[in-house]
Amino acid sequence: MRTPLNQVLKKNKVLGDERGQLVAIESGIHIPFEIKRVFYIYGTQPNVPRGQHSHHKTQQYLIAVSGSCQVTLDDGKEKVTHLLDQPHIGLFQDAMVWGTMHDFSPDCVLLVLANEHYNDADYIRSYSEFKEILSS
Ligand code: TYD
Repeated sequence: MRTPLNQVLKKNKVLGDERGQLVAIESGIHIPFEIKRVFYIYGTQPNVPRGQHSHHKTQQYLIAVSGSCQVTLDDGKEKVTHLLDQPHIGLFQDAMVWGTMHDFSPDCVLLVLANEHYNDADYIRSYSEFKEILSS
């Protein structure tokens, strides 16, 4: 069963000491998948959202390693918006969850870990198609 969208935000342990902070993310321990791809988004524009799609198979884990942004997740039943504003907070976006990243701060660097290589065919960019697949 899918984790409810209000429970997909996680505080990771900060391994800090007098030298500074460190956060470790390990496959199968802190995130429920093997990492095959890492990408990051920065230099975003005010009032310009990103994402606005879902994936057939790709699962993602999003971390605002600098700055902040909001992520609205929609599983077809409920829609929940999470604030990512600290580098030790991560958000799990499962496959077949529609995601929109928005309200980026100018200094936001959004790191995304994914379980699949990039594959355009895995994208669902039409919201009506997303809803159709969910109901089929
Ligand atoms: P896009 O998926 O539109 O970004 P977002 O959904 O985050 O707003 O990706 C922008 C471009 O980058 C598009 O041409 C596809 C390419 N891209 C890759 O080549 N590899 C990747 O892992 C990702 C996420 C995108």
